[in-house]
Amino acid sequence: MKKLKISIIGAGNVAFHLARIFSQKGIRPVQILARNTACHEDMKPYASNLITKTRELEPCDIIFLAVNDDAVSALASQIRLKNTLLVHTSGSLAGDAAASAGNKCGVFYPLQTFSKQRFPDFNEIPVFIQAEDQESMILLEQLASKLTSHVHHSDDRMRKLLHLAAVFVSNFSHALYLLAEDFLKTESVPFEYLHPLIKETALKAITSDLSQGQTGPARRNDKETLESHLILLEQHPEKQEIYRLITRYILNKYHPD
Ligand SMILES: NC(=O)c1ccc[n+]([C@@H]2O[C@H](COP(=O)([O-])OP(=O)(O)OC[C@H]3O[C@@H](n4cnc5c(N)ncnc54)[C@H](OP(=O)(O)O)[C@@H]3O)[C@@H](O)[C@H]2O)c1
Repeated sequence: MKKLKISIIGAGNVAFHLARIFSQKGIRPVQILARNTACHEDMKPYASNLITKTRELEPCDIIFLAVNDDAVSALASQIRLKNTLLVHTSGSLAGDAAASAGNKCGVFYPLQTFSKQRFPDFNEIPVFIQAEDQESMILLEQLASKLTSHVHHSDDRMRKLLHLAAVFVSNFSHALYLLAEDFLKTESVPFEYLHPLIKETALKAITSDLSQGQTGPARRNDKETLESHLILLEQHPEKQEIYRLITRYILNKYHPD
């Protein structure tokens, strides 16, 4: 099998992890385009050639556009390279968002939350791939299966729905941790006391029935406790509104009458 050649555009969270994991698997990116040279230090270990402009890009098998969603189309339209597949890594952009006049396009969406400080096991991450033709699909499959045992074909709707669900389970949960930390800080209570609870809640969510696993005052319809929590939140109207909203969701689900 011929050695695959890849390049990456971007130097943010996803670009960093793709560059790192591909390098680990022996597919060191040929070029990484980071428009901000301050990011070159982060990416230097993972690329032979760091560049700043799309016109410096050379043909290869695949270029990953791991950039902000709203930059994908404009960047792709600047690229015209022979036999080079352009893929974006977004959960919500259309499958043809990386289309350009001279190149085939596709999607390589890893469903995980990426930050430069964390190193999740890539082999456990589901990657959703899409391409407009069979040859590109095979290429994407080949590449994705080097990183993970969980390669899936998707379409735009499935990927968007998964991305939306991911916002609920990851981004919103994280925001709720921040909210709780913020609230406890105002009362000088350490957030760390909640760490075992956070771990157990996440483990329970993936190991047992979700509907049965729900606990708490709203699940029990414990009205006095609910009222006392709202009183504690009186000085925090935004947090109080979030508390009411999620409480209403749980009450409607378990106590609809
Ligand atoms: N983070 C996640 O958990 C995650 C997970 C799955 C998929 N994704 C998707 O992956 C993509 C990248 O997300 P991210 O979290 O890695 O974003 P990020 O950390 O904010 O990084 C975005 C990168 O894109 C670069 N960029 C933006 N506009 C550009 C342009 N016009 N030309 C060249 N470079 C440009 C930025 O450069 P500057 O620093 O110079 O602005 C930065 O290096 C998005 O489509 C996102 O939806 C993210």
